[in-house]
Amino acid sequence: MTEPATTPPTGCPAHRGAVPLYGPRFQTDPGQVYRELRAAHGPVAPVELAGGVPAWLVIGYRELQLVTGQPKLFGRDSSRWNAWPSIPEDWPLRPMMAPVPSLLYTEGGEHQRRSSAVGDALAGIDPYELKTQSERVADRLIDEFAGRGEADLVAEYAHRMPLLVLCWMLGLDPGQVPVLIRALLDMLDGGAGAQAGAQRLLAVMAELVEAKRARPGADLTSRLLVHPAGLTDDEVIRDLRVVLIAGHQPTAYWIANALRLMLTDDRFAASLSGGRRSVGQALTEALWEDTPTQIFAGRWAVRDTQLGGQRIAAGDLVLLGLAGANADPSVRQQDGSAAEGNRAHLSFSHGEHRCPFPAQEAAEVIAGTAIEVLLDRLPDLGLAVAEHALVWRPSPWVRALVSLPVGFTPATNTGGGAFG
Ligand code: HEM
Repeated sequence: MTEPATTPPTGCPAHRGAVPLYGPRFQTDPGQVYRELRAAHGPVAPVELAGGVPAWLVIGYRELQLVTGQPKLFGRDSSRWNAWPSIPEDWPLRPMMAPVPSLLYTEGGEHQRRSSAVGDALAGIDPYELKTQSERVADRLIDEFAGRGEADLVAEYAHRMPLLVLCWMLGLDPGQVPVLIRALLDMLDGGAGAQAGAQRLLAVMAELVEAKRARPGADLTSRLLVHPAGLTDDEVIRDLRVVLIAGHQPTAYWIANALRLMLTDDRFAASLSGGRRSVGQALTEALWEDTPTQIFAGRWAVRDTQLGGQRIAAGDLVLLGLAGANADPSVRQQDGSAAEGNRAHLSFSHGEHRCPFPAQEAAEVIAGTAIEVLLDRLPDLGLAVAEHALVWRPSPWVRALVSLPVGFTPATNTGGGAFG
């Protein structure tokens, strides 16, 4: 692999003791890294991405609100990045940052047009039907391992649940579901099959759009196609892809992180033996303490400016330190915890590009149902390994468990049939 330029542009954060955002430290205790960054640099810290690429990490709560709430100062279009000339073609993070013509990277009126269509299409989901579908998917997934007395709740449950519910939301033909899931997983693996997976995913989306143009249904795709914003087929395909990817991973990690909390923390033990009261609390607490998207890339400075005591140059990359901002002492109680019932975390981000509200509600239904059904079906569920043996993925972007092995008394299945 070609190394990026070793001498970053003058005035960039790499000149001032930037902290690497890669390596094993983030994997084990990101909270400690954020504490050290805050102590050394305050709410905005100079950091370094893989290959020595400089960026700013915003870990102050107010500063994060400012960055996400001021699109005229901090834009979403990554083509203004001042580091592009020194970024090699094969830089591993290029696919994450390269501008693509989707809802994610548009700005101003164009973003408003795309996001109102996606928001309205998501808002059209019937919450009762979403709950029923989520229960159905949860039951069928549990059927696949209930008789075994053991399972890995990450691979066999948390990852599959949101994906299958999202396929239903999109109105995908059941026969296409395994094809789409394979394509998406190949793409996300980032290995040799990633490009082909990305192409297949777009092809499945294109077929879906064609099918729904011919025979509209009560699904998100059909609602997007007839929205007054007048999206072209290409725009619909790209934005459906955003919904699928943005919906799948964080919801999967949210389920796993909340389950881990419930299985390891005595305060939640009572709910494991039958009660349901604490599922909502576990979900909220997981967003404060182990939010699935711990760092989001990002925003790009529109012009030279100041932020949290740092001088930011036009075109600098500003990373949203969602977990760091949630841990900002200014929004915590004296003992460091978040007040019970407080949902003012920034885990869904903030401002016009934040996770759309109907998506947040849908994610909560999917995640809450996943945990409730699991606890109903397998009430004596327990961790099959010691808590300290649980391993987190080595990524600065997500806070995600590699696996969550559990044991339980084998149970009978509901007879709903397995997934293909
Ligand atoms: C059904 C599940 C979900 C769907 C369909 C969904 C959908 C979306 C979409 C369409 C966007 C792009 C918004 C835009 O750029 O205008 C987005 C952004 C985002 N979502 Fe979600 N999402 C889901 C679940 C979640 C969960 C569980 C989390 C984390 C707890 C999350 C966190 C975020 C974040 C951090 C952003 C980036 C916001 C930014 O650029 O500031 N999402 N989501």
